Amino acid sequence: MPLTLNPRAEGLAVSGIRQFFNQLVDYPDAINLTIGQPDFPTPEKVKRAGMDAIAADLTSYSHNAGLIELRQEIAAFFNDRYGLTYEAKSEIIVTNGASEALDSVFRTILDEGDEVIIPAPCYTGYVPIVGLNGGKPVLLNTSDTGLVPTADRLKTLITDKTKAILLNFPSNPTGVTISKEQMEPLVEELKQHEIFIISDEIYSENSFENKHESFASYPEIKDRTFLVQGLSKSHSMTGWRMGFLLGPEQYMAQVLKVHMYNSVCASLPSQHAAIEALKNNRDAPEEMNRAYKERRDFVYGKLVEMGLDVVKPKGAFYIFPSVAKYGMTSFEFATRLLKEGGVAAVPGSAFTEFGEGFLRISYAYSMPTLEQAMERMGEWIKNLEA
Ligand SMILES: Cc1ncc(COP(=O)(O)O)c(C=O)c1O
Repeated sequence: MPLTLNPRAEGLAVSGIRQFFNQLVDYPDAINLTIGQPDFPTPEKVKRAGMDAIAADLTSYSHNAGLIELRQEIAAFFNDRYGLTYEAKSEIIVTNGASEALDSVFRTILDEGDEVIIPAPCYTGYVPIVGLNGGKPVLLNTSDTGLVPTADRLKTLITDKTKAILLNFPSNPTGVTISKEQMEPLVEELKQHEIFIISDEIYSENSFENKHESFASYPEIKDRTFLVQGLSKSHSMTGWRMGFLLGPEQYMAQVLKVHMYNSVCASLPSQHAAIEALKNNRDAPEEMNRAYKERRDFVYGKLVEMGLDVVKPKGAFYIFPSVAKYGMTSFEFATRLLKEGGVAAVPGSAFTEFGEGFLRISYAYSMPTLEQAMERMGEWIKNLEA
């Protein structure tokens, strides 16, 4: 008889998305637009700082919360860029990517059965992380409100079991950001309830139009807001595992214990690279954004030409057209686009049931790749309609 395991782990859905990705190997000539990471190298000076750290034997553990020099750089960065004030010593923890920041927060705040409101469609990691930590994800449908949560809907979902809301702007999978006008009614509602706000702003440096607005910039809720951040996207450092968690001192002391026992600390060479990224390479995302914007404009234009209903993204590097009008599930649509059209994109249903009817296209690819992919997709859609 097999040994019993944690039912929460066994119960994790591997879902349709895995099935979809398993098909990719059979279509080696397909153009793959599924990847969620920048297609640029880590900036040269940042790589050098990591290599220098290794050469100098800076390969030990650090303080559990991260090097104080790095935490000071993080504090300075968020102050300069977003006008946010955090205490380096007590309000910042360096984590193994944004993923570990999220996991450590939920491990710290959730008790069995606590509810976490998550606007959806949402990032694939959210529902599993909340569930693994004993929480109950409560999805807030944004699929028919321009992919932005409304205060009216939020109000209907808050119960006496609600422990937190998990927000993500700019968003993966939609590329949509939230304006100040859209944030204010949400903050007004959140002000009235004693719940945590976890704001995953990992794409904040990849905002193309207006300046990024952080949920942590509202003093009324800052004392119970955790800001999840990092360098994975801004500095193309996904493999370095550099995440940052910023939050109020009284709760961060508790999170630090959790982080200490699951990770000890983040990788030290990566921390040295991160100091260089924040000190001398703050303009790296700007250069990448120029390319993303050109690609976004191109792909958006092509999708509109194809007759697809699509919100123009303002950040990250994803676009999320509706494919509902073709009368198939998004899984069927993506599978046929792969097999018949030679283009791979992620079915919206991978991002919860509220992503059904959409397709996530990543444009973290070169212009020639995108041009070829859009041509193939356009042809395929023409045939579909014929
Ligand atoms: C919204 C969102 N949050 C968190 C993560 C995880 O980031 P990291 O690689 O820093 O753990 C991702 C990665 O794709 C993401 O899209």
